[in-house]
Amino acid sequence: MRKGILTIAAVGLLTTGGLTACGDDSGDKAASAKTPKIGVILPDSKSSARWETADRRFLEEAFKAANVQYDIQNAQNDKTAFQTIADQMITGGVTALMIVNLDSGTGKAVLDKAKSQGVATIDYDRLTLGGSAQYYVSFDNETVGKLQGEGLSKCLTEKGAKNPVVSYLNGSPTDNNATLFKAGYDSVLKPKFDANEYVKGPEDAVPAWDNAQAATIFEQQLTKANGKIDGVLAANDGLGNAAISILKKNKLNGKVPVTGQDASTEGLQNILAGDQCMTVYKAVREEAKAASDLAIALAKGEKKDTGQTVKDGDRDVPSVLLTPKAIYKDNVKDVIADGYVTKEEVCTGAYAKLCADAGIS
Ligand code: BGC
Repeated sequence: MRKGILTIAAVGLLTTGGLTACGDDSGDKAASAKTPKIGVILPDSKSSARWETADRRFLEEAFKAANVQYDIQNAQNDKTAFQTIADQMITGGVTALMIVNLDSGTGKAVLDKAKSQGVATIDYDRLTLGGSAQYYVSFDNETVGKLQGEGLSKCLTEKGAKNPVVSYLNGSPTDNNATLFKAGYDSVLKPKFDANEYVKGPEDAVPAWDNAQAATIFEQQLTKANGKIDGVLAANDGLGNAAISILKKNKLNGKVPVTGQDASTEGLQNILAGDQCMTVYKAVREEAKAASDLAIALAKGEKKDTGQTVKDGDRDVPSVLLTPKAIYKDNVKDVIADGYVTKEEVCTGAYAKLCADAGIS
């Protein structure tokens, strides 16, 4: 068997790097080849708009372009439903299963079962700790957090903040990505806390990234800090918007920089309005395409070398990790130009003028 060589050349934003085809000319290829049918389980539709507005759309786009059968379902944050959907997909004959786990426990149960039935598996966006997925496709999530920490720091400097009190709204404690995001922003902010340049304010993790709960949590943080919070490290746009809603109630919006992630329509509008400091754009189209390419190859009995691995305990998981990008008011236009959201969505009503001011034509 000739093992194909693959390189991931410059897997960067807006460039289509990613996987190059890796031929497997082995004679046994035909024997192992199956007609690809790909099952995808998305986690919910409330923790972030991305799952339904971006991931579903771009996965469909990739599967249709490759002319493969697919079934994309959403577990709506219900772990039992997650397992039921997986069982149905396996019974329904999927050749590959892609999951965005709700936690590593149920994720592992699903992956192990799929594996035992000969179904190929991919961890999509979230790594299942202790799991058995054959590939992991995501972004460099520690860099996502680093961009958030740097962004908050930049906005605090621009506001002329002196010894600012910074609060944290971390993502779900059961999401490995939330751990990686925090490691990223801590790498930027902790040295500033240690040097007494910044003051560490309240810190909470938001269960299941629940945006509504995040508002309650942030309101409590603000009370606890006697109203003195000068910057909010919010791990995604939904949590950021929750903080902004409370800041608005206290007439503090626009004065206190808030971070985000996902370049959601709402997040971009909050940036244009001056209520949000920045967001992190992740080109989900590329993530979906990379995962789709791998799932199709696996179904054909081909192996792809991703050129990179991620450690999960003792296991080296072959991975594709794409590059995230920081978005501020002046480059909101890049997200629109990339086709992630449309001008019509972002620039509605009062945002039309703000869009024009930000050079979105
Ligand atoms: C994803 C983020 C998303 C969050 C909440 C994370 O695992 O990487 O893009 O905002 O989950 O759904």
